[in-house]
Amino acid sequence: MNVAIVAGGDSGEYGISMKSGRQVELNLDPGKFIPYLIEIKGKGWNYIIGRKKFPVDKNDFSLTIGKRKIRFSIVFNAIHGTPGENGRLQGYFDMLGIPYTSCDVTTSALTFNKQFCKNVVASTGVFTARSLHLFKGGPDPVPEILKQLSFPLFVKPNNGGSSVGMSKVNEARELKPALKLAFNEDNEIIVEEFIKGRELTCGVLRTQGRVVALPVTEIIPKREYFDYEAKYKKGMADEVVPADVPDKTAATCHEISCMLYERLNCKGVVRFDYIYNGKKFYFLEVNTVPGLSAASIVPKMAKAQGWSFTELLTRLINEELGIKR
Ligand SMILES: Nc1ncnc2c1ncn2[C@@H]1O[C@H](COP(=O)(O)OP(=O)(O)O)[C@@H](O)[C@H]1O
Ligand SMILES: [Mg+2]
Repeated sequence: MNVAIVAGGDSGEYGISMKSGRQVELNLDPGKFIPYLIEIKGKGWNYIIGRKKFPVDKNDFSLTIGKRKIRFSIVFNAIHGTPGENGRLQGYFDMLGIPYTSCDVTTSALTFNKQFCKNVVASTGVFTARSLHLFKGGPDPVPEILKQLSFPLFVKPNNGGSSVGMSKVNEARELKPALKLAFNEDNEIIVEEFIKGRELTCGVLRTQGRVVALPVTEIIPKREYFDYEAKYKKGMADEVVPADVPDKTAATCHEISCMLYERLNCKGVVRFDYIYNGKKFYFLEVNTVPGLSAASIVPKMAKAQGWSFTELLTRLINEELGIKR
């Protein structure tokens, strides 16, 4: 079965996505699948093998290699950020009728918008930090922020990832530069109250028809929060899988995450991020195309579940294609 692994994309997460894609390529079960790593970057869509590149025919998402035409049974989506995590590429594959391993157009677009997603999550009764959603070109937001929210605050691009353009703001005079930094990344931003607590994250997927939560993981950044450096520099954060929390706390986290997976109509493996303050879980965001590189969290979660990375990938593909085993 030919599997197209799409990776790259047009955001600052390009490099990380290529690593995720390569890791998927390396680990797909060779007895079942033939992997084709396809880099998608702007208008250049190419199958990459060694130093060679073959362009994708966008009319039907196929390849021609020599005289051979190659079509794909499924797309494995490894693009973090646009256009793989916000629904754009999903719309293209829907129109061609090619199945893919991640959330559909609506869920991807909704969840990629941090504030819209928080609104839906809050409607299910899950706690979220108080926040304001601001658009570029609007009136000076500072008075409204000071009126509605209390410090410390997080200022972040609303459609971002990897903590780019984000800052923690402890007092009023730091607001202006933080707003500017975030607006450099995005036309809309979110200003959110800081929640003090432990950062817990939970991977969820549907497999063999059942929604399954993977072992809860604690992220312990060695910096003030899980910023870009903490995410991608070796040793800048500890990831404890399974998290050292009471069974009851892990069970609550699983329950909330499985409920959200269904209510948001998720597909494939996603990761819900929370701050747990000892009493309540505050939903921060959901990553619908979480990192899959060797250093990423989801492969570690799968391992703690007793699944190899290969098994996780097989489960994701089989579920999407309705293959029972
Ligand atoms: N409201 C908040 N309270 C506490 N920590 C936060 C809050 N918002 C973000 N953070 C910290 O910043 C990190 C990145 O924020 P997040 O919203 O997940 O953005 P990104 O999409 O860039 O990962 C989180 O993993 C967490 O460490
Ligand atoms: Mg995050």
